[in-house]
Amino acid sequence: MGFVKRTHTCGEIRAEHVGETVSLNGWIHRVRDLGGVKFVDLRDRTGLVQLVLAPETFPDSSNLRAEACVSFTGKVLERSDEAKNPKMPTGDIEIEVQSFELLGPTKPLPFQLSDEEQMQSVNEELRVKHRYLDLRRPSMHRRFAVRSSVIRRYRSYLDARGFLEIETPIITKSTPEGARDYLVPYRNDSGLWYALPQSPQQYKQLLMVAGMERYYQVAKCFRDESSRADRQPEFTQLDIEMSFIDQEDILTLIEAMTQEVVNGTIEEFGLDKEPVGPMERITYDEAMRDYGCDKPDTRFGLKLIDLTGCFPETQFAVFKNTIETGGILRAVRFPGAATYSRKEVSGLEEFCKELGAKGMAHLAVLPAAEAGEGAYISPNGLAIKSSIVKFLAEAELEAVLQTSQAEAGDLICIVADAWQTTNDVLYRLRLEIGDRLKLRDPRILKYLWVVDFPLVEWSDTDGRWSSMHHPFTMPKWEDLPKIETDPGSIRAQAYDLVCNGMEVAGGSIRINRPDIQAQIFGLLGIDEATQQDRFGHLLEAFSYGAPPHGGIAPGIDRLIMLLTDTENIREVIAFPKVAGGQDPMMGAPSTIDSQQWAELGLRRS
Ligand code: AMO
Repeated sequence: MGFVKRTHTCGEIRAEHVGETVSLNGWIHRVRDLGGVKFVDLRDRTGLVQLVLAPETFPDSSNLRAEACVSFTGKVLERSDEAKNPKMPTGDIEIEVQSFELLGPTKPLPFQLSDEEQMQSVNEELRVKHRYLDLRRPSMHRRFAVRSSVIRRYRSYLDARGFLEIETPIITKSTPEGARDYLVPYRNDSGLWYALPQSPQQYKQLLMVAGMERYYQVAKCFRDESSRADRQPEFTQLDIEMSFIDQEDILTLIEAMTQEVVNGTIEEFGLDKEPVGPMERITYDEAMRDYGCDKPDTRFGLKLIDLTGCFPETQFAVFKNTIETGGILRAVRFPGAATYSRKEVSGLEEFCKELGAKGMAHLAVLPAAEAGEGAYISPNGLAIKSSIVKFLAEAELEAVLQTSQAEAGDLICIVADAWQTTNDVLYRLRLEIGDRLKLRDPRILKYLWVVDFPLVEWSDTDGRWSSMHHPFTMPKWEDLPKIETDPGSIRAQAYDLVCNGMEVAGGSIRINRPDIQAQIFGLLGIDEATQQDRFGHLLEAFSYGAPPHGGIAPGIDRLIMLLTDTENIREVIAFPKVAGGQDPMMGAPSTIDSQQWAELGLRRS
C-alpha cells in the first residue's frame, strides 16, 4: 500500500501556486479549531504552511493531533487580506484540504514542541530521552544544517589542497591524552582490553611515517570525563596532520581555512555574525599575564593588572602575607561599579570565594567631589573609597591608581593569593564583568592564536613533570638544551586556537627523532619498559625515516556552538550524553546478559 507522495514541500508554496492542487507530507505543528473549521499548520524541514479543513467535508478529524505524520492533498487558495500573515513565508496562501491520510498517528506527547519558548523549561533529560521529537524543532534542524555545511566546507577546503581523508580505528589501544579511556573487553583473553581513541593522535603520526603527507579525518574522539557546557565524552574533531611543514605553515593554513569555512557558512545561513578577519597571536605567557588564562575572550579589554609591585613594604596584613608566601596581587577594573551597593559588592566577593579565593578587596574610584568621608583624595582629582583605605599608605594608593590607569566610576577588584588561584579567579571575574557590561557581543567571532606553550608542567600530586599538550610535542629548538637544567622554562612548538574565550583547536609540531623522544620520556618519568610497552610501535616507526610533521585538531562541536549561539554542546550533537555520560534514550550504558559475561570471561565483583 502506497501513500500520496508530496508534490511540493510545505515551505515552498507561494501565491503563484494559487489554484493548483498540491500534495504535502509532514508533521502537524499545531491545530486550531475555530467553531468546527480546523486550521492545521503542517511542517516539514522546509517550513510551515496553513491548511483548512471544512467540517462538512471532514466531520471527524480528531486523529489530526500535533506531531502526527500526515499526507494532505488540497487546493491552494489566496488568503483574504486581513488573514495574510507577513511573518510566514507561506503567509499569503492557505490550502483547502480535499483529502488526508494519516501516515503515522501519534500518542500524547511527552512535551509540546510547537512553542520554542515553552521548550526552554522542559527537563533536559526528558528531551534527550525523546531526542527524535526534540530534534523535530526547526531551531534544531537549523543547527544540524549548519553543522553539515561546516563539515562539507572543511572537506572541500582540504580536498582542494591535496589532503587525503583516511579513517583510523575506533577499537584500539589506550593512548595518553590526559583523560580516562573508555575500555572494551577483549573476548579471547579476559586480561586484555581495547580502548576507544581519545583522538587519532598516534595513528595520524604513523600515517606521516607512512608517507601520506597530508591527512585529515572527521574523527570521533572518546574521553571518559565529566561533561561540561563545552565538553562531551564523545565529540568530533577535524583531525589534521601534515609532513614537511613548520608551525607557521599550520597556523597560516588553519587561519585561511577557518575564515573561508566560517565566513561561507555565515553567508549561506544569513547568520547574524561579522565575518572573521585576521587572527591575532599572543604567547601563553602574555595570555596568562593579561587574562589569567590560556583561552581569553578578547572581544573586550579590561586586562588584568598586576599590583604586586605597588605594595613592596605594605603593612596591610592580607597583602603582606600573600607576598611573603610567594603569592601575587592582581586586579581587574569593573567600570561603572564604583557606585555598587554594599550588597552588590558582597555578591562579587562571594563569586570570587566560590571560585576558591579567600576574598576580594575592592577600591571604588570616584571623582573627589563625590567621595564622601574617609576616602583617600589623590592630587589628580580622583578619590578612592574602600574599607581598606585606612590600612594602605598614600604611596601604595597612588601606585594602584597609576598602575591600573583607573578612571572615575571604576571598582578595582583585587585578589591576593597564590599565582594559580589568583589567575583562575580573576579570569572568571573578568568574564563576569564582560557579561554584566554586555561586552561579549555574540555577533563577533574573535579568534586568537595562543602560541609558545610550556612543554611541561609540574604536578605536585604526582611529584613529576607532565606534558602540557602530549608527550609527542616538539620543544622549541632553542630550548632543547634546557631539558637537563630547567624543564619548566622549555617552550613547546604547540599552539591553540581560541574563539570568544573557548579553546576551538589545539595542535603541535611533533617529535620525529627517537633520541629527542627518549629524552622527553625520560623527563616525564616514563621508564624504558613503560615506553616500550605503551609506545614501542611509535618509537619503532620513528626509527624508519620519520618526516618532520605536525598537526592540529579543531573541535567541530564547539565551532557549531559559536555559529549557532548555543550555550551547551549537547544542543549541537544529535544524540548527546547527559550528566554521568548516559544516554537516556537508548538506555546506555546497559546491563549485558549472562552469556555475554561468560564469553568475556568477566565476573561481577
Ligand atoms: P586536544 O585535546 O586539544 O588535542 O583537542 C583538540 C580540540 O578538540 C576539542 N575538544 C573537545 N570538544 C568537545 N568535548 C571534549 N571533551 C573535547 N576535548 C577536546 C577542542 C580542542 O581544542 N590530538 C590532539 C590534537 C593535535 O595535537 O593535533 C588533541 O586531541 O576544540
